[in-house]
Amino acid sequence: MAVVGHGVGVFPREIIPAAAIARRVAELGSEIDTRLPPGPLTVVGVLRGAFMFMADLVRAIPRELTCDFLGVRSYGDATVSSGVVEITSDLAAPIAGRRVLLVEDIVDTGLTLKYLVDVLQARGPAAVHVCALMAKPSYKASGGPLLDFVGFDAPDAFVVGYGMDAAQVYRNLPYLAALDPAETKV
Ligand code: IMP
Ligand code: MG
Repeated sequence: MAVVGHGVGVFPREIIPAAAIARRVAELGSEIDTRLPPGPLTVVGVLRGAFMFMADLVRAIPRELTCDFLGVRSYGDATVSSGVVEITSDLAAPIAGRRVLLVEDIVDTGLTLKYLVDVLQARGPAAVHVCALMAKPSYKASGGPLLDFVGFDAPDAFVVGYGMDAAQVYRNLPYLAALDPAETKV
């Protein structure tokens, strides 16, 4: 499904305003700090979609932590999961013995998350926890087995903004927005 209409009268519909994101991210930071055992964390953001969420989230976690990033390509420029995950840029530091918090933007089928958790687990961390800003209804319905922390339920639509893109556009929207099906073309 290719996204069409950028800049020609089609604009994503705001679903979660910036102030609501800020409130929820602050709550998530406290929840993470309360629920995870004490000690340092390695927070791993999945690039590029999670960069904005990660920047806000780490400021809301009041404990010693380091930040690292995994570059991943799963969708290309389409809006349906290819099921193929490619690591385009690896972590800067080893995670053996570390408590890791993986930070994702949005979970749809869960294929990307499964792959990334497996990759991290294979490196011998003390633990891998997962926080996603949003989860789609289908993943929640499956029990959402890999998610420890979730910011919001996602609508059954393609979500953009607050770091997330459609064909690389819209990442700079300060709020979360939906591209309605009428605005995408199969
Ligand atoms: P999954 O593997 O089907 O769970 O897809 C997850 C990956 O696709 C995530 O890394 C997301 O970045 C991206 N993705 C899935 N749904 C959306 C969406 O609605 N908007 C933006 N990116 C999405
Ligand atoms: Mg992603």
